[in-house]
This record gives sequence, C-alpha cells and structure tokens, in this order.
Amino acid sequence: MKGIILAGGSGSRLSPSTNSINKHLLAVYDKPMIYYPLSVLMLGGMKEIMIISTPYDRPRFEELLGDGSAFGISLTYKEQSEPNGIPEAFIIAEDFIGNDDVTLILGDNIFYGQGFTTLLRKAIKNHHYATVFGYRVKDPERFGVVEFDHLKKVISLEEKPEEPKSDFAVTGLYIYDNRCIDFARKLSFSKRGELEITDLNKEYLKRSQLDVQLLGRGFAWMDAGTHESLFDAAEFVKNIQQRQGFKLACLEEISYYMGYIDKETLFKKGKSMEKNDYGKYLLEIADRKHTQQYWEAIDRNPMLGLVENE
Ligand code: TTP
Repeated sequence: MKGIILAGGSGSRLSPSTNSINKHLLAVYDKPMIYYPLSVLMLGGMKEIMIISTPYDRPRFEELLGDGSAFGISLTYKEQSEPNGIPEAFIIAEDFIGNDDVTLILGDNIFYGQGFTTLLRKAIKNHHYATVFGYRVKDPERFGVVEFDHLKKVISLEEKPEEPKSDFAVTGLYIYDNRCIDFARKLSFSKRGELEITDLNKEYLKRSQLDVQLLGRGFAWMDAGTHESLFDAAEFVKNIQQRQGFKLACLEEISYYMGYIDKETLFKKGKSMEKNDYGKYLLEIADRKHTQQYWEAIDRNPMLGLVENE
C-alpha cells in the first residue's frame, strides 16, 4: 500500500496568511499542519509516501521533511501545477503507485480518536476496491455527502448538494485499489473546473464497490482550511496535549514506537531541539519513564494512546 498526501491547492480562504506560504506548512498549534496527515499514514503502516504540492512550495516541503529517513520512512515529492482536483493526484503519482493500492489523505485533514489507528489498519487490511470514511457534520452542504438506506448500504453520493440527503460527509482519507488511476484518467472536469473525488467514488459506487466506514461521535475530524477551523484545530490539539501530556502527530515518537528509529536517534533529535517543548518531549520519550507507567496501565501502545490489541 502506497501513501499520498495532497498538499497543493490555492489556500485562498486563508489569505493573506497563505500569500507567500503553503497552507500545509502553517502551524497547527506546535507543529506544521502536514505532520497531522503524515502521522495518519505512518500509523496506518505506510512507509512509502509521496507528497504532492505546488511547484513553488515543493522545496519547502523537502526542506522540512527530507527523504523521510529521519522518521524511518521514504518520502518522495511531486508537483501539481494547478489545483485541478483531488483525483489528479493518482495521475501525477502513477509511476510511484505502480501496481499497488493507494491511500490518499488531504494535507489539511486532522483525524483523532481512540481506536482510529486500529480502524484504519483494519480498513486497509480488509479493503478490496474503495474505502472512504463518513463523518456526521452540521454543515453537510460544504462536503461530498453520502446517503444510506436502512441497512447502511450506500445509495448515493453528491458533491456539495444544496439539499443534502444526509448529515454524513466523506472525509479526506481514501483507500483505493489500483484502478483509481484509470478511473481518474477518464473523469471529466466539473462545472467548477476540477476533477471531483466524488465522481471517482461514484465509479466505485456504480459497481457496488464502495465501502463507507462511519467514524462515530468519539472521533474528531477537522479540516484546517479556514481561519476559524485552523484556530479551532490548534485549540483542540493544545487542549488534548496539555491534558494528557502526549503529543498528537509527533512523527519521531510514532517512528520510534513503530520500531523505525532507535532510541539513540530519538535522543539526538531531542537534543538538537532541547530548548523547545517538542525537543523536550522527544527527550522524555527517549527516557521513557513518564510513558512507561501509562502504557503498562492501559496495556496499549503509547503512540497517541491509539493502537489497540492487534
Ligand atoms: P480545498 O480546501 O478544496 O482547496 P484549497 O486548499 O486550495 O483552499 P481554498 O479553498 O481556501 O482555496 O482543498 C482541500 C485539500 O486538498 C487541501 O489540503 C489542498 C488539497 N488540494 C490539492 O492539493 N489540489 C487540488 O487540486 C485540490 C482541489 C485540493
């Protein structure tokens, strides 16, 4: 399974903050936005990940994350010259995907909740054709909306409907088989001039090959695309982290607990940043005393407290 983070777009709703910097490099509280979707793919078990951004911003992402070896993964980069829509990612990444299946996450999406990693890994393991995640929202007209029958079988998908048939939005995390490349190639541009991910999902739906997994009320899903939602997301991260003492989306922590980097590497990284909270946190994990008791008590992997008996 290959992973893709789509981090292009125009970020116009966050202007002027995004006039000279890509949205996904802005901080969500104490780390760049892109750390959050990257942590999701890493927790899902993906080690080969492509970051797609704009020609202008690509060097900044490379500077921030490098080839991924600092996190024990492989990161490669490609460009989307214009925001032509989400499915274009599969055409751009065709060579990278090769014959594999692929998980795509939007660069401004943040997922959090107990059991999320387990749910994602199970979804990846059990998926056949296409799997997307539905989440109840107050303003479904802003999203791709999924309608179910009484047996929770998907009966329709609509992009930004004026009169939504349900309150369930499709989130920015998608798992597809290799046919997504061909399907993406055959899509036509919509009225707003984009290739639509909803149209790609409809290709699977019409073949009865679209699985929609619902994320319950215990999960948080946010997109940090407006000033308000960016502020809310930062506040959410701050509150959870301060309350629990664990960081969300700390890439070094995840890679340490996944066994990709050793304690010495973690310690060195912490040392290089020891004047700030992030560095101190890495040193604490390398020392491990403060987390040891926690995971022994709950018998769970400590990374974000999310992974359950696998
Ligand atoms: P959007 O929020 O739809 O668009 P945007 O990020 O360009 O922002 P704005 O509406 O304020 O101009 O995009 C959702 C996510 O998908 C975001 O992380 C950017 C990414 N994206 C691309 O990288 N390329 C694309 O062609 C599109 C449509 C989105």
